[in-house]
This record gives sequence, C-alpha cells and structure tokens, in this order.
Amino acid sequence: MSVAKPLPHDAAPLHVTGRARYIDDIPVPAGCLHLAFGLSEIAHGRITSIDLDEVRAAPGVVRVWEARDLPSPCDCSPSLGDEPMLSGSTVCYLGQPVFLVAARSHLAARKAVRKARITYQERDALLSVDEAMAADSRFEDGPRTWEKGDTAAALAGAPNVLRGTIDMGGQEHFYLEGQAALVLPQENGDMLVHSSTQHPTEIQHKVAHALHLPMHAVRVETRRMGGGFGGKESQGNALAVACAVAAAATGCPAKMRYDRDDDMTITGKRHDFRIDYVVGYDNAGRIEVVDFVHHTRCGWAQDLSLPVADRAMLHADNAYDIPAMRIESHRLKTNMQSATAYRGFGGPQGMLGIERVLDHVAHALGRDPLEVRRANYYADAPVDGADRGAPDTPTPPPEDILAPNTQDIAESDLASRGAPVSSGTPVAAPAGVQTTHYGQPVEDFILGELTTKLAADCGYAARREAVARWNAEKPLLKRGIALTPVKFGISFTLTHLNQAGALVHVYQDGSVALNHGGTEMGQGLFQKVAQVAAARFGVAMDAIRITATDTSKVPNTSATAASSGSDLNGMAVKAACDTIRDRMAAHLAQVFQVPASDVMFADGSVRVDNEVISFATAARLCYEGRVSLSSTGFYKTPNVDWDRIAGQGRPFFYFAYGAACTEVVLDTLTGEYRILRVDILHDAGASLNPALDIGQIEGGYVQGAGWLTTEELVWDDRGRLRTHAPSTYKIPACSDRPEVFNVALWDGPNREETVYRSKAVGEPPFMLGISAFLALSDAVAACGSAYPDLNAPATPERVLMAIRKVQDGV
Ligand code: MTE
Ligand code: MOS
Repeated sequence: MSVAKPLPHDAAPLHVTGRARYIDDIPVPAGCLHLAFGLSEIAHGRITSIDLDEVRAAPGVVRVWEARDLPSPCDCSPSLGDEPMLSGSTVCYLGQPVFLVAARSHLAARKAVRKARITYQERDALLSVDEAMAADSRFEDGPRTWEKGDTAAALAGAPNVLRGTIDMGGQEHFYLEGQAALVLPQENGDMLVHSSTQHPTEIQHKVAHALHLPMHAVRVETRRMGGGFGGKESQGNALAVACAVAAAATGCPAKMRYDRDDDMTITGKRHDFRIDYVVGYDNAGRIEVVDFVHHTRCGWAQDLSLPVADRAMLHADNAYDIPAMRIESHRLKTNMQSATAYRGFGGPQGMLGIERVLDHVAHALGRDPLEVRRANYYADAPVDGADRGAPDTPTPPPEDILAPNTQDIAESDLASRGAPVSSGTPVAAPAGVQTTHYGQPVEDFILGELTTKLAADCGYAARREAVARWNAEKPLLKRGIALTPVKFGISFTLTHLNQAGALVHVYQDGSVALNHGGTEMGQGLFQKVAQVAAARFGVAMDAIRITATDTSKVPNTSATAASSGSDLNGMAVKAACDTIRDRMAAHLAQVFQVPASDVMFADGSVRVDNEVISFATAARLCYEGRVSLSSTGFYKTPNVDWDRIAGQGRPFFYFAYGAACTEVVLDTLTGEYRILRVDILHDAGASLNPALDIGQIEGGYVQGAGWLTTEELVWDDRGRLRTHAPSTYKIPACSDRPEVFNVALWDGPNREETVYRSKAVGEPPFMLGISAFLALSDAVAACGSAYPDLNAPATPERVLMAIRKVQDGV
C-alpha cells in the first residue's frame, strides 16, 4: 500500500533539474507590468513632502501610486485591518512601503523607486523591549497573564529560588524563493492571482477587499512555494494586492517579486523574546514553581502576534509537570517590521524559556541536566500490552486490500496498528489526571520511554563522562553535550481554523485528479496526501495527479500552517475518495450481483466476487452506469476547545514528541564552535512517509540550531536592519551540518484518530535545535564555575563573552 512508504518528494526530479515552476517561471503575457515599492527611510515619523516627479519620468515607468491614489486602504493585515498597503503620511518602520511603481521591466521599476525625494519629520522610534515597556507601547490593553496554582505562595515556600533572563533573537525565514505574485486580469474585472503563499484564501480575501470585489471574482492559484516557513502566511498579501491594484487600473497583467534585500527589509520575521524567570525547586531538582515574564517585540502591526505570543505561553511547560506556574506576556508594539509566523509559531521561544530554567537549576545543583529534566517530566501514558507499538517491535503495515465499508476498514487498519480508538468527545480532566498549566490533560506522553531509548542509543551517559574528561584535560578546546525533549501541541489555537476541504475526480480512464486546500512549500504535503488517495482507491501512485491549490476548487481554506497540513487535508481527501469508492462499489455490486462488501480495491484492480477488473475498467463501467465520479471531502478536527483569554481548555488535539542529543566543541580563544554529533528520536506517529518525515526532522533541527547559533538580526539605533542579505545574515550552510547526524523515527501510532494514525511533523523538530544551544552553554560552563549567561543566537562573539564572564566568575 502507498501509505507508510518512504517515497521521494513528488517534485524531486523537477526540483533538482530546475524545472519546477515557481511564480517567476510562469511565462508572462505581453504587456505585463513589473512592480516595486518605494520604502520609508526612517523608522518613525511623518512625511512632510514627497516628490515623485523623477520617478514618474524614469525610463519604462508606466504608473505610480501613493496611498491616496489607491482604490481603498488596501489593507494587507491578517487580523486587525491595521496594515494599509502604502503608508500615507505616518511611517511606522524603516522599510515600510510608501509608494508603488509599475514599469515595463523589473529593473526599470527598481531603478525608478530610487529617484524619489521624500522629506520626513522624524520622531523617536521605539525599538528595544525597554523603550516599548517604558512607553507602554503594546497590543492589547495590558499583559496577558495565565496562572496555574498559587505561584507567589509556592515561591515563598520553595527550598531554593533562582532568577535569570534570557534574550533570544528573531529569525529571517530565508525561503529560497522570495515573495512573489502575478495577477492576470480576466473578463468582467475578475482577477486570476498566482501567489507564492501558504494561504491562498487570504490572498483571495485581501485582493477582493482591496478592489471591492466579491470573493467569487478572485481566483488564487498556488502550485508550490520555494519555502514558506510561516513567512508566507500573511507577508505575501501586499504583493498580490499591489499587482491586483495595478491590473485593475491598467487592464494589464502585473507581477511583483521582492529582491532579497527588499524582502528582508520589508517583511516580518520570527518574534524575538526576552524571558525573565524566577524558579523555586527542591534539593532533588524537582521544580515546584516557575514565574515567567515574556516580552516580545511584535513590530509595527499586529499581524499574527497575539496567537504567536499565546503559543509561546502554551509551550512554557514543554515536557514538565510543574505544580505552579505563572506567565505574564507583553506583546510590544515597536517601530520595526511586523514580526510574523515562523516554524513553531512562538512555541520555540516559550520552550527555550523553560529549557533554560531546567538547565540553570541543574547547574546550581551540580547535577546532570538530563536527570533533572527526567525528574520533572510528565508521567508516560500507561502502556497496555502491545497497544503502543513498542519501539523495538514495529507493527506490520496495514492490509493492502481495502473494502469500501470505510469506517470498518479504517477501524481495522487502526486495530492492526494496535492503537486504541478515542471517544471523540471532549472530556474534562478527571481529578488526579496530569494537566498542563492551561488545563489540558496530558494523556499521550511518551518522552520517558523515548528519552531512555535515545539516551541508550546515543551513549549519552558514557559520552557525558568522556566530555568531562576531555574538558579536565584540555585547556583551550571545550566540549559540551545536551539532550533535550520536545512536546509540541498540534492544532490551530483559533479553533475554527481546524477544518479542510478536498475535491477528487476519477476520470473514465481510471486516472485520478486530486485537489485540496493545503499548499506545497517543500514539506512534501502533496505526496503524503496523494499516498492517502492512492491507498483509498488501491491504485498506484502514478494514477494520481496532484493539482495546484486553487481557491475555485476548494473554498474557505485555512493557511497551511500549524503543521496540520497532512492531518487536515489528508482526512478531507480520504473522505472524498471514500465517497467515490463507495459509489463505485455500490454500482459494481449491482452490475455483478454481489453484496457491496465483496467489492475490493487493491493493486490497481477491483475484485468483485471472483472477478478481477482493472480500476480503469471499473471507472468506465461506473461512468457508463451514470455514477458520479467526483466528490468533495470535508474534515474538522474533533475534541478541541479553547478560551485564550482565560488560558484554559483543550487547544490541542494531541502532542507530537521528540528528543535530540547534541555534542559540540568550542574554541575558548575565539568563541568559534562546531556541532560534532546529533542524535534524534522523533515521533511522527505511524508515519505516512518516513523519508519525507526524516527530511522534515533534519531540516527542522538545522533551522532550529541556526536560529540559536549563527542567525543574527541586527538593527541599528535608527531602526535600520543591517543584516538584510546573505552577506551579513548567516543561515547554516551545508558545511555546518553535523558530521554525525543520526535521525530515527519513534515507532508508535498516534493515539488519536488522525489520518492513518500519523502525526504532524512540520514544526516540532525545529525545537530539537535547542539541544545545540544548551550543548554550547554546557561547553561554556566547563570554562569556570558560574552559570553561563548565554543569550541567543550564540554567535562566536556571544560565546566568547559568555566564556569570559564564566572565567571571571561573575
Ligand atoms: N518544510 C519545507 N521544506 N519548507 C517549508 O516552508 N514550512 C514549515 C514546515 N516544514 C516548511 C517546511 C512550517 S512553518 C509548517 S507550519 C509546516 O511545514 C507546514 O506544512 P505541513 O502542515 O504540511 O507540515
Ligand atoms: Mo508554520 S509557522 O505554522 O507556517
């Protein structure tokens, strides 16, 4: 069966031969206009004069717009309506689009925008956390606070108390394909939009809104992105809206793509955080209470900052059962790019906060940090018999033959994977059940056993001793090792987003066209979902054609985000396929005079009683029998319910787990370092495609380690982003890949009823990169006796400063 096979990415041959088509590869019709934005040169203030005469007169320029020339404010925000496409007289960050130019070529447009003469009255820009806090510049009225237990009383009674602060930087998405859109005007004023977006429905909505059109007049198509990583959930809106405005005004097609420097200067990045903590713990390292204060710089507009900051709060416990916890979260409005979604969506920041706390406590007690972590873990969910699919005994793949009675088959598939079937209704946590600080029961915890296995497989204990011996002997090079866990909640915390649709056609030759609301950004979603479709019809993968995401095929979709692409769209596709398969079975049963349950779909054939016909013949018979061979499918995640104001409920359908052990070596004279070895054991449930999942885990780890090590965003004191190109912003290169990089999948199905009992895998492995940061911290700790006060990213400069502080014993 196609599901669970390690098939390569469906577009891999296209990717590696350069034939995969991105927006910039779509042949444009004659007369296509090319757009560029003119950007603000100051971070905060008023435009006192604007002279665009030379821009208009520049070679190739066709038209120029200021805010007042637009047909509407052209709001580009995903939430509040607080992001007009062009600034108007007040500018809020350096790099904000102020005017729009349409020209005959990309180069002409870019050259023309430089000719603007704009004068400003500058105001003080709020840049730092301290400045924003002092000015009380924030989204929402005040900080959001959630509390479990009585933290003040618990801190007063705790045997030991420690405090600290960690600063963690933001992160540029650095998708290889920059932001891009192409709009082709249609008859009747309709618009066809090609957009490199994770969220075609939002592009449709924003274009329709800007042009005062109903949504049915705008069709958005997205074949693939060259990476999104959260940076194309909302940040592509401005380009699509700009192209639509130009197309509507001129009747010409319009295209816009940001040059890399503009992309980095204009678009939002990961939120940087400062986290203050006070922790109370006993002498055995049991944490009794933690009080966190999260400060997050959100930039000039709200964008997705509230749910990002919420998710940071939701991951403040990570893997630990902490009796009392308080989190106060400040969502600060600053004069910078509007920070946005980025893999993990705040989760990594919240998680790094608690991992730092665990590390600090272990250091204070002089204990192995892994022991202290384990002493604080939630308890593993009970293992009943072979139910969990113990790691050493892989469960056999489900039966190849599928009968049309889908519910039964789905259940028996599950039974063959040995998974218990959940009730599907929300259950309040009974007394005595372990719950998170927001009241969700933790019923599927596996990190105890997973950590034991990883620690054994990677030789953690012996290597830790070897590291200690090395450090005792070597004065200049120091090693460090850290093993850290991840527990990541799966679902959109805005509950209504947890829905998806699909559209499936079977043609009379037996070929299948598949469409769903998810978008492909390199993560392999299309292949996984095609594997589901092939499995439902029992046909080979080449019988399935994956088609571009298209708002006219599946409407009202959610962004492909929150790692839920395959969970949601896989289920919707399964539902659509099963509808068609049931219709086919019913018709064939009638033709062959057998019960429908005797019609089996497998190996590209349909077995009816004792006869075997090809799937193509079956499709033709059904067509001739006037059976509809097309169906939609729909899915909504059960069992989620969340009150973000109270900070209580069950925001997540389930958790995904993993753990990583990283070993590093650093040079105490220069602060330079290398990652020597990484071992990962990650839970993708019953993987839909182990090859793609391992790819996600490797990429997630490297990107997470990049965030915390080399990727540094620097704004100067006027608010100009100085690291706006690969020359100054360092993403991990191939040569930074760990020399030894062992990745294994935990072998156990999802306890919840997800598609083939798989688990979401897009974001969770990102946070495995925290082990790289804490391994560096461990190596720094070997230089003296004080706790390394390492901030992220741990660039060689910061590592060197931390080494000096530790050596000085401060
Ligand atoms: N993998 C690749 N290759 N490219 C990407 O842009 N985005 C990540 C992750 N993995 C991304 C990726 C992010 S932020 C998310 S939310 C998920 O993929 C989205 O896809 P999924 O829901 O299908 O996992
Ligand atoms: Mo991912 S940050 O949810 O797009």
